[in-house]
Amino acid sequence: MLGCIALSVKGYPLRARHEETLSPGVIQGKIRALRMDWRQNRVAETTDWNALWKDLVEIKANSRKRRALNAEADIWADRAHDFKESVKKRWVRPDSSREFILSKIDADSTVLDIGAGTGAWSILMAPHAKHVTAVEASGAMIGVMRESLLAENIANVSIIPGSWPDVPIEPHDFSLCSHAMYDSTDLAAFIRRMVACTRRLCFLLLRAPSLDGIRVEAARHIWNKPFDSPNFIIAYNILLQLGIYANVQMEDTGLWKPRKSSTLQEALADMRRFLGLEGLDQYDDYLMNLLRRRLVCKDGQYIWPSEVRSALVYWQAGD
Ligand SMILES: C[S@@+](CC[C@H](N)C(=O)[O-])C[C@H]1O[C@@H](n2cnc3c(N)ncnc32)[C@H](O)[C@@H]1O
Repeated sequence: MLGCIALSVKGYPLRARHEETLSPGVIQGKIRALRMDWRQNRVAETTDWNALWKDLVEIKANSRKRRALNAEADIWADRAHDFKESVKKRWVRPDSSREFILSKIDADSTVLDIGAGTGAWSILMAPHAKHVTAVEASGAMIGVMRESLLAENIANVSIIPGSWPDVPIEPHDFSLCSHAMYDSTDLAAFIRRMVACTRRLCFLLLRAPSLDGIRVEAARHIWNKPFDSPNFIIAYNILLQLGIYANVQMEDTGLWKPRKSSTLQEALADMRRFLGLEGLDQYDDYLMNLLRRRLVCKDGQYIWPSEVRSALVYWQAGD
């Protein structure tokens, strides 16, 4: 067959040179080549995990800006006390991560707590270590941590105000970062510095979402990807790219209770904040339908499906 014909496969044009004979074999060959192109494109799209992490962090940061929040403002300013209370409530239950980390540190060791918040981990570890250094960026969180250290009569915790990884720190035996990496655009640099400052074990605690969770379903719809936030799945792949083959222990005590919202509007605002969609309304109809379908109304409250657990990731940093 001679001539110019317009064929397409899944929207990709199948081009034939004017004089080319489009026999069934030629068409099959072109289809195979196109399939290879799609696969290569898809693989290329998903392999830069650090760039994916950065994009998700920036989506959230831009969302805050659209809420007209000053990027320099302390986002914990009026939430630090509530945060301390929420950790206290959650920690009433036993937790495999706390038990495991305490079993690893010893009385002669020094521990670095990165993004220490109100100091829950520093205070937990202090009686089991020689010294704990708590690095924390928020003045409000530091204020509450100081009050707690005083109230608990703990003298072997020192606080370094500042933002990791741009803080001068001597090496410690152990380092821990619990849910304090989600605003850092370069997780690879964050981890490299952690390794450089650790003689023995590094610990990370990260959000591990359920892939059938409501937020992941929303992310698949909006971004065509199951990544609702910078989280364990992405971080673990960044570690692999850094040549770190870390161990993982999934928290198995049901520590994170399902979220509750008083109204669907409140649930929608929560969803928009979490996904970094504040100030954008083009997904509201979709999100409202999703919430109506997946939240369960019980005793006047909307209960979210259980969709998150904590992953404890740890590896040997030094010899
Ligand atoms: C969700 S809280 C977690 C606090 C604590 N690690 C815990 O698990 O209870 C996150 C804390 O990390 C701090 N943070 C976030 N990024 C940080 C960074 N790059 N350097 C130091 N602190 C940081 C925040 O100010 C906040 O206090």
